[in-house]
Amino acid sequence: MSSKVYRKLIAKQFAVDFKAAVEIIEVPIPEPAADEILVRNKFAGINGGFDTLVCQGKVAYVNLTPPFDLGVEAVGEVVAVGDNVQNFHIGDAVVTTAKGGGYREYQLIDANLAIKVRQATPEVLTLIPTGISALVALEKVGKMKSNEVVLVTAAAGGTGHIAVQLAKLAGNHVIGTCGSQQKVQLLANLGCDRPINYRTENLEQVLKQEYPHGIDLVFDCVGSQVFDVCADNLAIRGRLVVVGFISEYGKNIEEVTQPRIYHKIFWKAASVHGFVMPFYQEHAAAARDRLLDLFYSNQLKVVVDATPFQGIESIPAAVEYLLSGQNCGKVVVRF
Ligand SMILES: NC(=O)c1ccc[n+]([C@@H]2O[C@H](COP(=O)([O-])OP(=O)(O)OC[C@H]3O[C@@H](n4cnc5c(N)ncnc54)[C@H](OP(=O)(O)O)[C@@H]3O)[C@@H](O)[C@H]2O)c1
Repeated sequence: MSSKVYRKLIAKQFAVDFKAAVEIIEVPIPEPAADEILVRNKFAGINGGFDTLVCQGKVAYVNLTPPFDLGVEAVGEVVAVGDNVQNFHIGDAVVTTAKGGGYREYQLIDANLAIKVRQATPEVLTLIPTGISALVALEKVGKMKSNEVVLVTAAAGGTGHIAVQLAKLAGNHVIGTCGSQQKVQLLANLGCDRPINYRTENLEQVLKQEYPHGIDLVFDCVGSQVFDVCADNLAIRGRLVVVGFISEYGKNIEEVTQPRIYHKIFWKAASVHGFVMPFYQEHAAAARDRLLDLFYSNQLKVVVDATPFQGIESIPAAVEYLLSGQNCGKVVVRF
């Protein structure tokens, strides 16, 4: 064991507020076992929603008791390899997506779980796994087709801006919601047909007036009233995919009293589907390869938010920034 140490962010307790749940600790830099590699993380993706919910103990498929490690995706450089490892060498760029592997300066990982990439950039990190989630949710859950009307909410965010482009590439008319004129411009630049700034336009009115036949496929990241409007405006055989409900993270879940959801969907033969990526892992590798091909052939743009977050200590601020809704594209922290 090396005498050198590195820093990582852990959840020391459950708390409503991410900042109140976490602390930075120092631990020794380990040596890889025979089948492992040691990676120096260069960038980690910020998943403000998941991070907040996991620190509240509310992610149903994750059964963790504090203290536990935080962060998921990271991109970095291999700095040591175990004796049995053939396919990785010191200096290789790799993306990793192990739970707890993101918010730390170094991580040990089984070599079979690391993905070799051309360069350790935040763009590649955005595609794996955020872009993968967008692609799988649209295609495998939403059954995305061509020549349909697709609505993406939080469309200028890390997940949303990839979904917008994938829906366009598939030949659809794409509507995207966002909360600023700067994001409207970004969405227009990405090919979005009808960006809607929900702070200056009424989403319900726009949908009713401009899309009287309804929306064929909704990729909803926001939830609450936005979900209600989306569900109300589904087309015949429309599909609504619940990708997240960021408007409720960090808050008490809103209790609503209204007729059951089947009253909305039955008469249109419409459907509402929950989506969490861990239950669709069988599609991850093919989705990743397609996304990287699209990116390297300049058919897909990756937008990384320009606000710099540097070091483990900046992660709580980065989570808060994402939840405040200010970000354009994927929020990352640099180590
Ligand atoms: N199911 C899965 O496997 C999976 C995987 C990845 C992500 N997700 C989900 O996808 C969503 C987006 O995640 P992300 O990490 O890519 O974040 P993000 O979209 O980069 O950032 C969040 C964005 O949400 C928008 N937003 C809209 N209403 C909001 C509100 N009331 N409060 C806060 N933000 C609001 C904000 O932009 P505007 O205000 O401009 O719209 C903000 O920029 C989240 O719900 C997340 O949980 C799910």
